[in-house]
Amino acid sequence: MHTNIHALLSLACFALVFNAFYVSGIGSQPRSLSLNCGSESGGTDGDGRKWESDVKYIAGNYPHARAQYQDSSIVSEVPYMDARIFRSEVTYNLPIMLKTRYWLRLYFYPSEYSGLNIANSYFSMVAGGVTLLNNFSASITAQALTQAYLIKEYSLAPMNHQILNVTFKPADRPDAFAFINAIELVPMTDLFGSGTMVGFADQNFDAVSANLETMYRLNVAGQYISPTKDSGNLTRTWYNDAPYLFGAATGVNLQTNESFKVQYGELTESVAPPDVYRTARGMGYHKDLNLAFNLTWLFQADANFTYVVRLHFCEFQLTKVNQKVFNIYINNQTAQVEPNAADIIGWTGEIGVPTYKDYAVFVKDRLGDEEIRVDLHPATYSKPEFYDATINGIEVFKMSDRNNNLAGPNPALSEMQAQHMAKASNKKFQKDHKTLTIVGTAGGVGFFFVAAACIAAYRRKKIIPGFDSHTSSWLPVYGNSHTGTKSTISGKSTQSGHISSLAQGLCRHFTLPEILRATKNFDDSNVIGVGGFGKVYQGVIDQTTKVAIKRSNPQSEQGVNEFMTEIEMLSKLRHKHLVSLIGFCDEDGEMCLVYDYMALGTMREHLYNTKKPRLSWKQRLEVCVGAARGLHYLHTGAKYTIIHRDVKSTNILLDENWVAKVSDFGLSKTGPDMDKGHVSTVVKGSFGYLDPEYFRRQQLTEKSDVYSFGVVLFEALCGRPALNPNLPKEQVSLADWALHCQRKGIIEDITDPHVKGEITTECLKKFADTAEKCLAESGPERPNMGDVLWNLELSLQLQDNPDGSKHSSKGEGSETSEESLRNRNLEMHYSNLSLGSNSEKTAGSDDSGEIFSQIVNPKGR
Ligand SMILES: *[C@@H]1O[C@H](CO)[C@@H](O)[C@H](O)[C@H]1NC(C)=O
Ligand SMILES: *[C@@H]1O[C@H](CO)[C@@H](O)[C@H](O)[C@H]1NC(C)=O
Ligand SMILES: *[C@@H]1O[C@H](CO)[C@@H](O)[C@H](O)[C@H]1NC(C)=O
Ligand SMILES: *[C@@H]1O[C@H](CO)[C@@H](O)[C@H](O)[C@H]1NC(C)=O
Ligand SMILES: *[C@@H]1O[C@H](CO)[C@@H](O)[C@H](O)[C@H]1NC(C)=O
Ligand SMILES: *[C@@H]1O[C@H](CO)[C@@H](O)[C@H](O)[C@H]1NC(C)=O
Ligand SMILES: *[C@@H]1O[C@H](CO)[C@@H](O)[C@H](O)[C@H]1NC(C)=O
Repeated sequence: MHTNIHALLSLACFALVFNAFYVSGIGSQPRSLSLNCGSESGGTDGDGRKWESDVKYIAGNYPHARAQYQDSSIVSEVPYMDARIFRSEVTYNLPIMLKTRYWLRLYFYPSEYSGLNIANSYFSMVAGGVTLLNNFSASITAQALTQAYLIKEYSLAPMNHQILNVTFKPADRPDAFAFINAIELVPMTDLFGSGTMVGFADQNFDAVSANLETMYRLNVAGQYISPTKDSGNLTRTWYNDAPYLFGAATGVNLQTNESFKVQYGELTESVAPPDVYRTARGMGYHKDLNLAFNLTWLFQADANFTYVVRLHFCEFQLTKVNQKVFNIYINNQTAQVEPNAADIIGWTGEIGVPTYKDYAVFVKDRLGDEEIRVDLHPATYSKPEFYDATINGIEVFKMSDRNNNLAGPNPALSEMQAQHMAKASNKKFQKDHKTLTIVGTAGGVGFFFVAAACIAAYRRKKIIPGFDSHTSSWLPVYGNSHTGTKSTISGKSTQSGHISSLAQGLCRHFTLPEILRATKNFDDSNVIGVGGFGKVYQGVIDQTTKVAIKRSNPQSEQGVNEFMTEIEMLSKLRHKHLVSLIGFCDEDGEMCLVYDYMALGTMREHLYNTKKPRLSWKQRLEVCVGAARGLHYLHTGAKYTIIHRDVKSTNILLDENWVAKVSDFGLSKTGPDMDKGHVSTVVKGSFGYLDPEYFRRQQLTEKSDVYSFGVVLFEALCGRPALNPNLPKEQVSLADWALHCQRKGIIEDITDPHVKGEITTECLKKFADTAEKCLAESGPERPNMGDVLWNLELSLQLQDNPDGSKHSSKGEGSETSEESLRNRNLEMHYSNLSLGSNSEKTAGSDDSGEIFSQIVNPKGR
């Protein structure tokens, strides 16, 4: 009897506890949990998603805290501004459903919280027995990625408990504490299965019961997809793939038409939303060129982990088997090659039906960067109709190792980043100053990752059945071939560890006295320009070298960010048509950038409203070609796409030989912006040049630069400013007015009278057509910078040598010669890709530029 009552009592207790967790009741739909940690009442975020307080889920009273500064990249206070701080080990007990896989997302905003030095925060985290973080410093990681906040996403295997314990444990070091801003727990369908182990043709892997961390999730050639737009209520975020494309051969963006329907067939829509399958990247339309290169993506990865690479495909152009067949390589190993090469219709049977393939690859601890490389190349074995390859989406997941660990060390900071961080935190703690924000927010917000360290003992067999008896024999054992911490950074950031050390290496560090000497104590008589950043002075260093010195306004927080961005961007870029950064000074609150002196000033000064000599038409063409070459290099020549964001005629400078150089990288970003919300607060650029699509949709792509450059082209042609409020209303905006005239075929009427007589008809036509295309309403309709460059080269040639094209009667003849010119040109361009792609610091791409013009201009040979 006694025991019975006891049992009943404990049952009742259990039921009570249980009810507290299962607010919506047992048996109902598994629900997601969105905890705004440290907040009293939860709240609604910018996307309209509801967050609740975390108090119910931790036993005991733990301090809550509020960030004292809201970084400009954080558009919604919820859930970033509140935090829970832990000075000892603390466990959250979160209700989960039996046998259900969950996403677990962790949000960290390493900021200033009630006088705590965030640099002291080091901690580990274990969830359901899986080590997610170890010795983790959110501030170092955010700093290395130049992000203000971090979101980590894990997929936890189904469990036999109804409680998920998530434990935070501060590291064993002085003043260490743990913190968290938000936790999200989302039930998910079983998205993981088995696949091929790359490099072990006869071996499969099984991820059904694996614990994984999402590293990358890309909507190839498509737009950012926000959590609220994801399919299957999975609240995933999809990013554009451009930042991860390797080399200049980025292929072509393909898109379905509006009425196209994705038919899921055997897949559930949870696998990926239709928008992922409605865009794809292809290689291009030239058979021979496609055979000459690979479409390549490169992802940073941590050593000693197995990664699942999921490739999404959906054919929306072809309908038959063996029309398009291609090889897939992962880390230079054959994942899917002839005679088993990829044939999407062969897999799905039909147009419009999506499919995906999973490949697992073990990333070895090699000397240098550990990386995952995905290569696509046409297969020729079965003589398909097209030599091409297309892909719609890429996801990369890290699998926990045999110790059930997913954590790794913190990324290494560059010297400059470390100094900055130390300085920022010192300043703050001495003066209670609110400037400990993460310097630079140039990177989008995405997943990030760190390398490995092992903790708990766990058998691998759960994850890769069949390997338990010889776990170490199939995984090659490597000696530790290198020392020191590795910089493990997300590809989307340029202000990253090793690039910054590169910056250090390439940039000269000036002392303040040197700068003061050079500018005669910032004497106003030396001012040669004033920008948003501050004043620009001319000066002399090393007795004879003339330089331009940009001095930041120390009051402006933005100034600091732009200063850092510019150093990071420019120091690693060396190109004949980009202005060179000689060095910088960062001392006593003075921040200066030192550049090569551009003797002839800005392009604008030589176009209109000026006493300076105006550029001849030929010179204008050459300046435009040079600037286009600089921008083309930014978009494709460096390892990651760089978007300038402020292309205008005052940012195109001329050296003493009239060579055009693109300048002012303070607003530049790497890659199309990853986060819609992120940009909505900071649509930047200059009026008159601003891409209307970017303005409207607030989604930045390299095509925004193309738009602005189109305005510059019309500026050169018409010899008037981008905006002139003194003109009649319809003429105020050059972009609108020039487009209007061009479409009516009366562009001659608004051509600058100073050069009108010099322009050949063919040249004018080509030039104006090119500028018009740049101003197309939507980004995808605009040419890429490579096409713009080629067309400008062509119009230069038509200016020099109008006879050449006059001979061939208009129409077919000239088309053909244009076509062949283009092909030769592209061929040469592609064969030079290996030069420009890997080593942005070499002059390689410059050489290709020279070759480029030699081909286009026969006289040059
Ligand atoms: C979770 O933690 C609670 C105490 O906080 C403990 O009683 C329970 O056994 C833990 N559950 C698991 C599955 O570890
Ligand atoms: C998504 O959530 C809504 C409302 O919570 C529900 O009606 C719908 O069935 C869910 N969809 C899926 C695919 O689970
Ligand atoms: C859209 O694409 C589909 C399939 O490619 C095609 O059948 C259809 O005619 C297209 N519709 C339009 C309006 O172009
Ligand atoms: C793959 O090959 C490229 C080019 O040869 C090389 O740079 C890269 O390091 C290789 N990657 C791996 C993972 O072996
Ligand atoms: C494409 O990638 C594969 C695997 O890395 C490599 O073997 C091949 O040489 C590459 N082809 C070209 C044309 O770069
Ligand atoms: C923790 O991380 C810091 C920063 O990366 C590193 O310096 C330190 O050695 C690490 N400590 C341990 C115990 O791994
Ligand atoms: C990877 O594993 C090897 C062999 O166990 C070890 O020597 C090496 O230090 C590990 N590397 C990392 C980054 O953990």
